[in-house]
Amino acid sequence: MVRIKLAVLISGRGSNLQSLIDACAEESFPARIVQVISNVPGVAGLGRAEAAGIPAAVVDHKAFEDRQSFEAGLNEALEKSGVDLICLAGFKRLLTDGFINPWRDRLINIHPSLLPAFKGVHAHEQVVESGARFSGCTVHFVRPDMDDGPVIIQAVVPVHGDDDADALAARILAQEHRIYPRAVRLFAEKRLRIAGGRVLIDGAGAPEGALVNPCADGGRRK
Ligand code: GAR
Repeated sequence: MVRIKLAVLISGRGSNLQSLIDACAEESFPARIVQVISNVPGVAGLGRAEAAGIPAAVVDHKAFEDRQSFEAGLNEALEKSGVDLICLAGFKRLLTDGFINPWRDRLINIHPSLLPAFKGVHAHEQVVESGARFSGCTVHFVRPDMDDGPVIIQAVVPVHGDDDADALAARILAQEHRIYPRAVRLFAEKRLRIAGGRVLIDGAGAPEGALVNPCADGGRRK
């Protein structure tokens, strides 16, 4: 089995990074992480990479004059490791077209809402304030507009009447950890095609191709 090479870009806690580390630890998983990059020094995610023996680098945006030179610094780190796919996992820095376009269709992100609803920061607060009954998370290909791009996979969670943003975030995070490795697997198995701005999944009769809906199965389906 050929295992594609992943880079994971983080800015903090790195729990999604951990879900990818755990998935890659399985022999049958068709990807491995060759590089973790944080734009913030000293964050917990860097410790997770280190504990897993994965090369980790800090490319501190504050050390660069502007976005372009920061992104050149990122590319320099990425080119060294021959990456096939970049996973943004809680990476809190907006990337410009100059970075995104050369990585088009090889750059994915996870966002804690059902995109295209509730883009941007404080997604959970926005959801709770809106009175929406359902939210969830989305893995999508990255396009130059924020939290925009073809949807690969989503998971739905209920919003309870007494939820605050933290309670909702915790419920969604558990689903993030399920869908990010699934999206990576689909990419690595070359089952994703983008047509007309939508992602088509080969063999989409299979559960991977459908919306993952933990409401329907109690969240237990793997
Ligand atoms: C996750 O909830 C992720 O979806 C979110 O940041 C958190 C990072 O947590 N990303 C965004 O809001 C991107 N727009 P983690 O560091 O524990 O993976």
